[in-house]
Amino acid sequence: MSDDAATQANQTLTVRDNRTGNEYEIAIADGTIKAADLAQIRTSEEEPGLATYDPGFVNTASCKSAVTFIDGDKGILEYRGYPIEQLAEKSNFLEVAYLLIHGELPSKQQYDSWVHEITYHTFVHENVKGFMQGFRYDAHPMGMLMASVGALSTFYPESGNISDPDNRHIQIVRMIAKMPTLGAWAFRHAQGKPYIYPDNELGYTANFLSMLFKMSEQRFEADERLVKALDVLFILHADHEQNASTNAVRSVGSTQVDPYSAVAAGVGALFGPLHGGANEAVLRMLRRIGSKENIPSFIEGVKNGNERLMGFGHRVYKNYDPRAKIIKQAAMDVFEVTGTNPLLDIALELEKIALEDEYFVKRKLYPNVDFYSGLIYEAFQFPPEMFTVLFAIGRTPGWLAQWLELVQDKEQKIARPKQIYTGPRTLDFTPAAQRWA
Ligand code: CMC
Repeated sequence: MSDDAATQANQTLTVRDNRTGNEYEIAIADGTIKAADLAQIRTSEEEPGLATYDPGFVNTASCKSAVTFIDGDKGILEYRGYPIEQLAEKSNFLEVAYLLIHGELPSKQQYDSWVHEITYHTFVHENVKGFMQGFRYDAHPMGMLMASVGALSTFYPESGNISDPDNRHIQIVRMIAKMPTLGAWAFRHAQGKPYIYPDNELGYTANFLSMLFKMSEQRFEADERLVKALDVLFILHADHEQNASTNAVRSVGSTQVDPYSAVAAGVGALFGPLHGGANEAVLRMLRRIGSKENIPSFIEGVKNGNERLMGFGHRVYKNYDPRAKIIKQAAMDVFEVTGTNPLLDIALELEKIALEDEYFVKRKLYPNVDFYSGLIYEAFQFPPEMFTVLFAIGRTPGWLAQWLELVQDKEQKIARPKQIYTGPRTLDFTPAAQRWA
């Protein structure tokens, strides 16, 4: 809606500046006002116009996006309009990746060609292997992943040509294809085991498991139920609209840099414990509780504010996180293969008690995606440092779909927030020799 049409339809906000007595009419569209419209509100020509202060973007939309929809109150998550429950049950990770990137589901021919392309780009240049081998024996796999994704930009210098659709496409294919190779090699590195090359006869997730766990056998064929469970976990993590790492990808991508550099920034953001690390904290918590008998006293401690029930609560979801429900089922499927984890019983009992307790009900605290995912990863025998790498592999199509949307969005500009300057001004500089004399 144009600003004039907004005025006619009463879709406006009237602001009275009490400093001057002036009134302004500002258009409302999609439940937002344009921050730039506030700049006309000023006390004099010399003063800068009014701006908003919003650390952490808690009430600021940074873009328009058609990738992912979330209704946190109702517990709804949709990729390109399709409910996450249906995708997890009936689709697979590569089809979901296609959907996120292209905006619609593939035809048979499109799907086959997508899978073929991804499969045949799983190998990395041999020098990437040498580069990764140069890391210290105890390097964190997320640090290795971040550096090696960024390094890919030097192997594909043409990736900087982001205005060419064919070029964008091939870099997207390469990144989705190579992420499991890099993630698996980072895992093998920490274990001092040889890096395993991709097996292109296997599907995406089965090949990833092969690169992680294969030793001397001809072919590593993981149990189908485990392959399916990990594939579902990748689907659940594939996008989550404007979270911290996606915002990092968009922010760096807004400089028009190549997509490898933008995604490396996303991996860096995901590395932070406030973003990718909560499932590890859940495992630590369950271990500390130790047995079901200790749950009531633990819950009392949470209610008294001594600690948090990790894996519960969410900034956006004020209802059961739809991903948590699916993960709970996937955990059961995995434990059928691997044998149960005694921590599962504690988790189930904890959830039951918390969901009935007034403290949690009143605050709308429900299990989130991290409550059960760590238990599954542990059943696969992943060390905690790998949990975030798995998240990054799953999130790669989402980061790339958002990047693609960004670079084609005519309204986007280089991300460059304002600041409120609080430091000193116009000091006189005295040269060091005089200051130290
Ligand atoms: N255990 C106990 N109390 C909680 C919890 C919790 N896990 N989460 C929130 N509360 C209480 C909080 O103390 C506050 O109570 P009061 O109103 O009496 O002060 C109220 O609920 C609102 O909490 P908040 O901190 O204002 O909520 P937030 O939206 O800022 O925080 C959160 C969201 C996820 C950081 C928080 O719920 C939390 O710390 N959860 C545990 C950590 C966790 O599981 N993180 C993973 C999030 S999902 C990952 C993803 O989607 O990427």
